[in-house]
Amino acid sequence: MYNTINIQGSNYKLNLSKYYLDGAEEYLIKSKQDKKNEKEYLKKAEELIEKARIVNILPENNMKLNEFALAKKPNTKFKDIAGLEKIKEKINLKVIEPLKNQKLFELFGKKFGGGIIMYGPPGCGKSFIAEATAGEANVAYFNVKVSDIKSKYVGETEQNISKLFKLARDNQPCIIFFDEFESLGQDRNQAIGHDKSMISQLLTEIDSLGNKDQKILLIAATNEPWSIDLALRREGRFGSTLFVPPPDFSSRKNILKIQLDNKPIEDIDFDLIAKATEFYSGADMVEICNKSIENVLSECLKNNQIRKIKTIDLLQAIKNKKELITVKWFKKALDIIYATDNTDSFNEVIEYANNSILQKQTA
Ligand SMILES: Nc1ncnc2c1ncn2[C@@H]1O[C@H](COP(=O)(O)OP(=O)(O)OP(=O)(O)O)[C@@H](O)[C@H]1O
Ligand SMILES: [Mg+2]
Repeated sequence: MYNTINIQGSNYKLNLSKYYLDGAEEYLIKSKQDKKNEKEYLKKAEELIEKARIVNILPENNMKLNEFALAKKPNTKFKDIAGLEKIKEKINLKVIEPLKNQKLFELFGKKFGGGIIMYGPPGCGKSFIAEATAGEANVAYFNVKVSDIKSKYVGETEQNISKLFKLARDNQPCIIFFDEFESLGQDRNQAIGHDKSMISQLLTEIDSLGNKDQKILLIAATNEPWSIDLALRREGRFGSTLFVPPPDFSSRKNILKIQLDNKPIEDIDFDLIAKATEFYSGADMVEICNKSIENVLSECLKNNQIRKIKTIDLLQAIKNKKELITVKWFKKALDIIYATDNTDSFNEVIEYANNSILQKQTA
C-alpha cells in the first residue's frame, strides 16, 4: 500500500514524489476496477499527483515535516513484546479496537479520540509498544520526536504542531506517537515564553479532534510523567496513564529467547540468567545478549575455531554491567513523587517498588 515507504537521505525528495505518484497510480487502477466509486478514486489520485508536484518545487528545508506522513507502517506486533499483558490489553481496548471496529464503539456511545500516556524507566518498551500498536492496528503512524516539532524560532513550533495534525487528518485513520513527551507537554507553570503557547496549541489541536469526530488516536511516552501539564492528562485528551515496568522474570526469559533465536547456543540456562537480571530493562537484556555474541564471535575469529554461546558468556556480560538505569530511575521517581505529594497519581510506581527488593537497593 502506498502508505509504506522507507526514505533515506538525499533521495528523500525523489522518494517522496514517487511515493505520492505510486499512490496515485493505485487509485487510478481502483477507479477502473470499481466504477461505482470511480469519481472518488479519481479525486484521490488527483490530490496525490498535486502533492507530488508540490514536493518537487519545495525547498529542501521545508521537507522535514512531510516525513511524518511517511512514517513507515511498522511490522512490529504485540507478539514481539515479551510480557506486559495488562498494557497490551488496555491499548487493545483504547486504541486498536476503536480503530478496527468504529461502528461497534459508536453503537455503545463511545466517543472516538483522546489518547494514552505510557511512562516508566528507560528501555522498558514504551516506544516498542507504540510501534507494535500501529503494527497491530495496521494504520498510518506518525512517530513524532520532540526534535521534529520544536523550533527555536518564535511561532514555528506551533506551526509545526498544526501542520502535523493537518497531515494526520489527511491520513486518517492514524496514530500519532509523541516520544519524549515531557519536552512537549511539560507543565505550563514551569514553561517559559513560547513553550507555553506551544502547549496551548497542542491542547487546541487535541480538543478539536474530539469535536470533529476525527479518526486519530494519540499515544505519548515519557520518563518524567510528573512534568506533564495536568491539562493534557484530562479525560478526552491523554486520559489514561499506563505504567510500563521493567520486564518480570518470565518476560526477561522470553526476551533472551527472542534475542538468541537462531544463534549458535549451547545449553543456555535461561532461568539462571533471568534470575540474575532483576531490574534489567528490555534494552539491558538485548545489550547483554549482543555483548555475549560479540565476545564469542571475536574469540572465534582469534582462535580460528567456532564455538557456541554458553551460559557463562551471558553471566560474564552481566558481571561487566555497571549501574542499572532502571534502579536510578526508581530512586529519582520515588523522591519526586513523595516530595510533590503525588502518591495517588503514581501509585503503581510505589507499589512496584514496595513489592520488590528495590526497597533495599534504594534505601
Ligand atoms: N518487553 C519487551 N519485550 C521485548 N523486547 C523489549 C521489551 N522491552 C524492551 N525491549 C527491547 O528494548 C529496546 C528498547 O525499548 P524501547 O526503546 O521501547 O524503550 P523505551 O521505554 O521507549 O525507552 P526510553 O524511555 O529510553 O525511550 C526495544 O527496541 C526492544 O528491543
Ligand atoms: Mg522510547
